[in-house]
Amino acid sequence: MSNQINFVRGEGIHLYTSQNEDYIDAVSGTFNISLGYSHPELVDVLKKQVEALIHVSSSFTGTIAQDVLDDILAVAPDYLTHGWMRDIIGSTANEGAVKIANKYNGKSEVISLSLSHHGQTLYTTGISGNAFRRKSFPNTIAIQHGTVPAPYCYRCPFGAMGAPECGYLCAEAIYDYADYGSSDNISCMIIEPILGNGGNIIPPEGYFERIRRICDELEIVLIADEVQTGIGRTGYMFASEYFDINPDIITLAKGLGGIGIPSAAILYKPQFDVLEKFEHSYTSGGNLLSLAAARKTIEVISREGFLESIRANGEFLGRGLQELKERYGHIIGDVRGIGYMWGLEIIDQDNAPDTALTNHILDIALEDQHMIMRGSRYGFGNVVKVRPALTTTVEEIEEILFRLNKIFGSL
Ligand SMILES: Cc1ncc(COP(=O)(O)O)c(C=O)c1O
Repeated sequence: MSNQINFVRGEGIHLYTSQNEDYIDAVSGTFNISLGYSHPELVDVLKKQVEALIHVSSSFTGTIAQDVLDDILAVAPDYLTHGWMRDIIGSTANEGAVKIANKYNGKSEVISLSLSHHGQTLYTTGISGNAFRRKSFPNTIAIQHGTVPAPYCYRCPFGAMGAPECGYLCAEAIYDYADYGSSDNISCMIIEPILGNGGNIIPPEGYFERIRRICDELEIVLIADEVQTGIGRTGYMFASEYFDINPDIITLAKGLGGIGIPSAAILYKPQFDVLEKFEHSYTSGGNLLSLAAARKTIEVISREGFLESIRANGEFLGRGLQELKERYGHIIGDVRGIGYMWGLEIIDQDNAPDTALTNHILDIALEDQHMIMRGSRYGFGNVVKVRPALTTTVEEIEEILFRLNKIFGSL
């Protein structure tokens, strides 16, 4: 069905077909349309940039790239003082972060979380916490990588009853890996502050404190992949601030481009400024449209009241989703989220993950309600995501909730 739809125009959370049929996008593209479709200020800036100059080699964009980086660093946690803007996608930004860690400590292994997703390149596929992604690509097996359990309290892999009583066994598993899975070669650990593709999994309070402490103790560089959670998605510019993660490196992409312009950045503490330009530069890294989009996006999101409204409206959205859970508790097992980043865990009568029903919900959302939604783990998961553009109003949230209620009511 979705393949047959031909969208020709977009505005805010609305998309229109060539027949002028109106759909609403409850997930902001693939979570990258952070300011909604065709945000007028972004369009204006980009039009001017197109007319002036679209691209010159990154050999000549160093100054402007540094200016944009400075704008991003100005709204980042104080300990992040340096950065890199020679990528335009999240996958290579994550590879850049791993390169930095490898070069910094001369080690090569990467720890990631089960259920994690860090990109689609061969390397980021290799460090994925979802083995199904590697199945057809034997080269990924050579990548030196280990996973530890995700902090997925709703389905705790240890059967524990919640933090802090559990003793954060999922974080403690890093010690086990260091002792028996690695030969003293762990370079870095990469985490998504909220596991996005894995199912909008939100770690319990105290988890990141443990992770930071263990990484310090074992001298592991901590990388926060904020490709989904960064740039306002949680109601904070960075989820690392909300969770007080104190990572050594943060990667950004997706929402940084505001209206779907590819743009990425790597931010880090000063001691990690180790890369030479020839070690991590892409043809389109430092593209002038990417830089212009990132700069304007940061400006819009930094405006007074913008993040506060996401926090307030996000609570409203969360309350509405909780009400749906109360009404349809036989289908919705859990509701979790922060800001404009929410997920509904879809269950069967035995509380087991119901992937078929999840995919069915996505289909009827599109077909019957003209509402675009996404599931988790590329159709293999059981979480329906609700992540509208950060410009979504309370009235539009009400409309999303209204349509969701109709969908669940029809099941
Ligand atoms: C958390 C996370 N990291 C990295 C990526 C890869 O980003 P990109 O598709 O821009 O390469 C994604 C994409 O879905 C993601 O969700």
